[in-house]
Amino acid sequence: MRKLDGKTVFITGGLSGIGKACALNAALEGANVAVADLKGGEMEATMEELKKLNSKAIFMDCDVSDFKQVHEAIQKVISSFGTLDVALNNAGIGGEAGRVGELSEQSWLKVIGVNLNCVFTCMRHELEIMLKQKNGVIVNMSSILGKVGFAGSSHYTAAKHAVLGLTQTAALEYATEGIRINAICPGFIETPLLTKAGIEGDAAIKQMIVDKHPMNRLGKSEEVAKGFIFLASEDSSFITGTALEIDGGYLAV
Ligand SMILES: NC(=O)c1ccc[n+]([C@@H]2O[C@H](COP(=O)([O-])OP(=O)(O)OC[C@H]3O[C@@H](n4cnc5c(N)ncnc54)[C@H](O)[C@@H]3O)[C@@H](O)[C@H]2O)c1
Repeated sequence: MRKLDGKTVFITGGLSGIGKACALNAALEGANVAVADLKGGEMEATMEELKKLNSKAIFMDCDVSDFKQVHEAIQKVISSFGTLDVALNNAGIGGEAGRVGELSEQSWLKVIGVNLNCVFTCMRHELEIMLKQKNGVIVNMSSILGKVGFAGSSHYTAAKHAVLGLTQTAALEYATEGIRINAICPGFIETPLLTKAGIEGDAAIKQMIVDKHPMNRLGKSEEVAKGFIFLASEDSSFITGTALEIDGGYLAV
């Protein structure tokens, strides 16, 4: 028996990096995977990989910052599979770097919009279904930067801190209704997000970031996916409202 046999797993931002690794690992564990992401990039290759793992996988072209599109995506999950067992609210962006006194309002609103407001939007629709089912698991993607600051990224750290507050509060609200809600706090993970943020391409910056991890390396998406499968499965049946740190020791310092 695999850990997610026959379960329906909904993943936002599932075409790249951490989300993609979580989607593939969920499929390996027997889940039917519904990916919601912006169309393009690795869409065909990812869906092909999921199907090769015998997952009944569907893709939804969905901008998670659009309330109606998220509603339609969740409805599509239900019409395709009948249930929504696990949701991973993972879509996120890095945003422009800059100190608080220099950040543009537009940049602030964009990062808060995708990294925080969209998590609420997704939970809002997911919980409607899970409440009717009296069953479900939600995992929100926060970050080590949901627990500590990082100069130049106030919008990102503010959003990721708030995701933890949202996760804990919702966990309390639904604890007796069969719904578990947790978060993951990854350290710096080698994904396209780091490349876009200019970290992968700059040896000095990369080394500075590596040095912040006592294990002396960056993490891999696969390592975050293992934590996601734990939180998504019955292995974590008595865990709700927690934030799982997968960070090579970053927060232990
Ligand atoms: N890479 C890291 O070091 C790291 C560390 C901690 C937390 N995280 C978090 O993990 C999550 C995934 O990051 P990643 O590193 O895999 O990034 P990534 O850029 O590889 O993937 C992000 C995915 O989200 C999608 N996305 C972005 N905006 C969207 C929108 N409006 N609607 C739908 N989809 C959208 C993108 O298309 C992409 O497929 C993010 O929430 C990020 O903040 C990443």
